Amino acid sequence: MIGQDLLGIESLDRERIELILETAEKMQEIGTRDVKKVPTLRGRTVVNLFFEPSTRTQTSFEIAGKRLAADVVNFSVSSSSLSKAESLLDTAKTLDAMDPDAVIVRHKVAGVPQRIADVLDAPVINAGDGAHEHPTQALLDMLTVYQEKGRIEGLSVAIIGDIAHSRVARSNIYGFTRLGAEVRVAGPPTMLPPQVDVLGVKAYTSLREALDGVDVVMALRIQNERLGGGIFPSVREYSSTFGLDRAKLRFARPDAIVMHPGPVNRGVELSHDLADHRPSVILDQVRNGVALRMALLYLIAGRDFPQDQE
Ligand code: NCD
Repeated sequence: MIGQDLLGIESLDRERIELILETAEKMQEIGTRDVKKVPTLRGRTVVNLFFEPSTRTQTSFEIAGKRLAADVVNFSVSSSSLSKAESLLDTAKTLDAMDPDAVIVRHKVAGVPQRIADVLDAPVINAGDGAHEHPTQALLDMLTVYQEKGRIEGLSVAIIGDIAHSRVARSNIYGFTRLGAEVRVAGPPTMLPPQVDVLGVKAYTSLREALDGVDVVMALRIQNERLGGGIFPSVREYSSTFGLDRAKLRFARPDAIVMHPGPVNRGVELSHDLADHRPSVILDQVRNGVALRMALLYLIAGRDFPQDQE
């Protein structure tokens, strides 16, 4: 994958997903060492180009790059818009002239990482674009499920919430179905995309039916900023119908795990108790995100595997 862009899961085949997950499993060991640093990407430069706020993803890419000894440059822009597309491409080209080895892009408009990739020499990794894709989140979610369950093929995964506006849902739908899992989506009708079945998933408006016998429950953030848009009547109604707590979780398999990409609205999509305790694996997802992004930086911008250099 050296020099290749990673713009979405849609275009990734099963072999490449498995290669990324296997490489991430090897990277996990570095995070357990006393000195969490290897020289693999020494002399390489990674640019974080975030046009939208981010806590987890940006920090995780930064830590991942630093653990591999890359020079990581954070170029944070608090906001931008399509009308600024021109200056955005100029910015990207300017950074490209400094010869980075990978550019990580997040933008609120779908398709911007692709447009940037079209004009850059450096490989571009999509860190979330609008409601389109968030491939590294889906990959760390697949890694987390694989390590919890020992497989992905044949599992049932229910994704709950605002599916229509979620890049996390879309990337996970592509990823989990490609690895042979059954994916269900559930939420109020206004949060379900029309014709979601073309993505190979079944849509439910009943949480109970969606959870019936599933191995994995993934809750998505309710975007409070969209409340004015009439997507659902009130937070209280949403949380009583689709908010997960231990009582509702009983519809799933007894050993089901609960996931959330963060940030969590506590007491809305997840009860306080579930947000903090098993079977939720939210902090494992965050931890796995670092190893997963190390794997991607190594595969896309690297040379020798860490062990070979010791
Ligand atoms: C998600 C995102 O930004 O797409 N968060 C993340 O990257 N962990 C989900 C969200 O913001 O709801």
